[in-house]
Amino acid sequence: MKGLVLAGGSGTRLRPFTHSQPKHLLPVGGKAIIDYGIEALAAAGIREMGVVVGVETDRPLREHLADGSRFGLHLHYIFQPEPRGLAHAVLCAEEFLAEEPFFLFLGDNLLQDPLGDMVREYLREGKGAVIALKDVPNPSDYGVAELDASGKVVRLLEKPARPPSSLAVVGAYVFGPEIVDACREVRTSPRGELEITDAIQVLIDGGRPVLPHRLRGWWKDAGNPEHLLEANQCVLDDLQGESRGKAMDCELTGEVLIGEGARLERCTVQGPVVVGEGARAEHSRLGPYVSLGANSCVLSCAVWKSILMEEAQVEGLGDLSHSILGRRAKASAKVPQGKLSLLLGDDSQVCLD
Ligand code: TTP
Repeated sequence: MKGLVLAGGSGTRLRPFTHSQPKHLLPVGGKAIIDYGIEALAAAGIREMGVVVGVETDRPLREHLADGSRFGLHLHYIFQPEPRGLAHAVLCAEEFLAEEPFFLFLGDNLLQDPLGDMVREYLREGKGAVIALKDVPNPSDYGVAELDASGKVVRLLEKPARPPSSLAVVGAYVFGPEIVDACREVRTSPRGELEITDAIQVLIDGGRPVLPHRLRGWWKDAGNPEHLLEANQCVLDDLQGESRGKAMDCELTGEVLIGEGARLERCTVQGPVVVGEGARAEHSRLGPYVSLGANSCVLSCAVWKSILMEEAQVEGLGDLSHSILGRRAKASAKVPQGKLSLLLGDDSQVCLD
């Protein structure tokens, strides 16, 4: 089975970060979002994968993912000239898909569950589709699936005011080749896109089996800053690994991963916390739920529930939380401040006096 990862789009909800890099490369738990999806697909046995890229994401994603060999698979890049919707992205990949079944995965989604079960469920049926669904408290914010008594999906509704179930459609699907013709039948939606939910409805209306796969673990769609911080928290909760860096005169509790060449001095760290390669923290309180990017620097601060990207620097901030600092962003304070929450794009600077 092939894989198709969608990484075009404009990422407008994640500005300012997406002004200078694709959302798929933003780090959660010390790793780019898209790496988690690709690793999960590789673990499900997929070896041949297409990545749909757009005007803004093309170059940075090629640089980051290269030929895919570090994931143990072979990557092809498919160019989508404009972000005209998920069904349009599938149509752009028609030649690559070559009438084979495929796993479609949205490159900004993170799932705790392994993906192999969905592949096996599709192969057992051998036709139609398997779509991942997650029980959510607020189904009106999502695409929602209605199931019949036999458990098959009979209807998909986009952000319904009166949802027929609490099952949200997640960005993971296994499709047979018929989905490509279904995508061709879809008309532009009120929000101006060719929707994959409409294409799935075409399959259902044509009598194809569309099977639900209910997720047990967490699911995050890292579409906006709040969701990015939530994804960071979920990923850090599952954190495991080996520290290679140094901690001197520090008090560490919980899971704390210190990268190669990183140095913590006179810090109190409450895990889960990940410290990137070459990062430095002194005289600070870190955690829980902090990801420090490579070569970032934290001096005399308390930081929790936050992401600092590569080479970001903070100094003298007494209580920084729910914050995301882009690459090389700097924030400092000369006098103690109260609670602070910052969203700073790459190369931004804030000095609080
Ligand atoms: P979305 O989050 O729906 O769209 P977006 O990335 O354009 O973000 P925003 O709404 O904030 O502007 O996209 C889900 C995933 O699908 C994401 O990884 C980008 C990808 N995508 C494409 O590859 N092509 C497309 O035409 C669209 C709309 C999204």
